[in-house]
Amino acid sequence: MPNIGMDLNRYILEEERKYPSATGSLSIALMAIETATKIIASHVRMAGLAEIFGKAMKTNIQGEEVQKLDEFANNVLIRILSDSGHFYALASEELDEVIFPEKGTGGKYIVAFDPLDGSSNIEVNVSIGTIFSIYRKNKGTAEDFLQGGDKQIAAGYVIYGSSSVFAYTTGTGLNAFTLDPSVGLFLLSHKDMKIPESGKIYSVNESNSKGWDKRIRDYFDTLKDEGYTARFSGTMVADVHRTLLKGGVFAYPADAKSKKGKLRLLYEVLPMSMIVEQAGGMSTEGKGDLLQAKPEEIHSRTPVFMGSRKEIVQLMNTQFMSK
Ligand code: AHG
Ligand code: MN
Ligand code: MN
Repeated sequence: MPNIGMDLNRYILEEERKYPSATGSLSIALMAIETATKIIASHVRMAGLAEIFGKAMKTNIQGEEVQKLDEFANNVLIRILSDSGHFYALASEELDEVIFPEKGTGGKYIVAFDPLDGSSNIEVNVSIGTIFSIYRKNKGTAEDFLQGGDKQIAAGYVIYGSSSVFAYTTGTGLNAFTLDPSVGLFLLSHKDMKIPESGKIYSVNESNSKGWDKRIRDYFDTLKDEGYTARFSGTMVADVHRTLLKGGVFAYPADAKSKKGKLRLLYEVLPMSMIVEQAGGMSTEGKGDLLQAKPEEIHSRTPVFMGSRKEIVQLMNTQFMSK
């Protein structure tokens, strides 16, 4: 049994030992993601200084232009994951097309990621994050990313907040590791995370409520009547991280402007759904289990409600009763 404080690399290797047939490929793939997010975490800490350095030096020590943090995160993930040799294909929320890295032709896995979640929060020092989702290579085409949420081999997120936390699952529960910046290691801090059965917080951008279905407005009105309070940061990773720890519901419903919702299935909703379900919570677009959803194309969007069982069942019942 892993102990609190075990470092993420060792944890990944110990997990691999449970499967005698494992080749080690998934472990190396996960460690590549870990390395990329450590580099992003260290740059997040310097984000406020980038412009000062930019002004002072115009270019950094390698002679490159100082980049914006979201571009930087995307480039770091692409470079390190391509270089790992364990990913046959990469899909980024920031790119129109799937990438097939030269070094990945023997890779067994494909990875989708939101390199920087919460971009609007960078310059105001509010928490931001990275989300990733791993599938097995199937046909070896871009369509492999449309297999559906229940085919994920692993999913995780990193929150760059008051501390940086790496949370991930391979389908056997959820564990989270907090970065000790003095030694550069993610250390096990939240073992076998379980979301509370219910909470007292709802998290939704209520400025869109005029465009919601009446049923959705009724649902949130009921939560208010039941004494819930609201929190919404504009960073899904931060809002879901809080929901996992405190319970309640995170939602991005469809509205009159965004008929399919705002959040993207492949990069945001499917990985976070697997994570929440692995912690004992639920995730739905309003009726069914979102993990059963298959994106039509890599940038497809969906309405989403995820969190504690009580709140998600209540939403499903609200819809059922008002039909
Ligand atoms: P991204 O920064 O990757 O584009 O994602 C932002 C997403 C999500 O994290 C958040 O819940 C939502 O957009 C907030 O959008 P609004 O501020 O438009 O409500
Ligand atoms: Mn995002
Ligand atoms: Mn993003």
